[in-house]
Amino acid sequence: MTFSIGVVGVGQFGGHFAHLFKLHPGVSKVYAVDELPERAAAARGQWALDGTMASFEELLASDVDAVAIFTQRWTHGPLVVQALRAGKHVYSAVPMAVSEDEIARIIETVRDTGLVYAMGETSFYNPATVYAREQHAAGRFGRIFYAEGDYVHDMDLGFYEAYQYSGGENWKATASYPPMLYPTHAIGGVLGAVPPTP
Ligand SMILES: NC(=O)c1ccc[n+]([C@@H]2O[C@H](COP(=O)([O-])OP(=O)(O)OC[C@H]3O[C@@H](n4cnc5c(N)ncnc54)[C@H](O)[C@@H]3O)[C@@H](O)[C@H]2O)c1
Repeated sequence: MTFSIGVVGVGQFGGHFAHLFKLHPGVSKVYAVDELPERAAAARGQWALDGTMASFEELLASDVDAVAIFTQRWTHGPLVVQALRAGKHVYSAVPMAVSEDEIARIIETVRDTGLVYAMGETSFYNPATVYAREQHAAGRFGRIFYAEGDYVHDMDLGFYEAYQYSGGENWKATASYPPMLYPTHAIGGVLGAVPPTP
């Protein structure tokens, strides 16, 4: 059984996922949507996708099975809930949302609808995290009573350009905004190695 998916936001990051979804044998069709239609058209051409849609709303009204959200960091919470309410399974890039209230609403909507929401914490697949996960599973760490994580990103390796790409002249106003609400990769490394006990 396969499913179809619409990728919302094909900026710096989303296009690469559209490509990966397109290569996956479990995915039948991949569509691109972006507020800037030329980005959706470019992604369609570059990754040989199955089509574009004019808006998020048009995607939700279509018969795609799932929606993957790669819009700017602070926009995910409401879009995820809207997509779940439209009957779509949802994947979103990190962060899940930027307030506890938004996160609670996603959990509540998943319970109401029975649909799947998945947050794409990529550090789960970081080789260091995979290694630590295997060591922990093999019992080599002993009893863990404390862990902490850091995530350091060299901003000179394309990050300023990434913010400028969608932020325009005013990009500094939204770069890393709001910074302390994006601790995901620091926490993801730890939780990816040492699963929380229920
Ligand atoms: N390792 C990781 O997990 C990782 C790495 C990079 C980026 N990200 C995440 O991916 C997301 C996207 O980052 P990016 O660098 O590609 O940003 P970007 O600004 O390059 O792209 C965002 C795109 O979303 C589009 N968009 C915004 N709202 C929309 C809407 N309602 N409908 C349709 N299109 C809409 C914009 O026009 C833009 O093209 C961010 O949430 C970021 O946190 C995660």
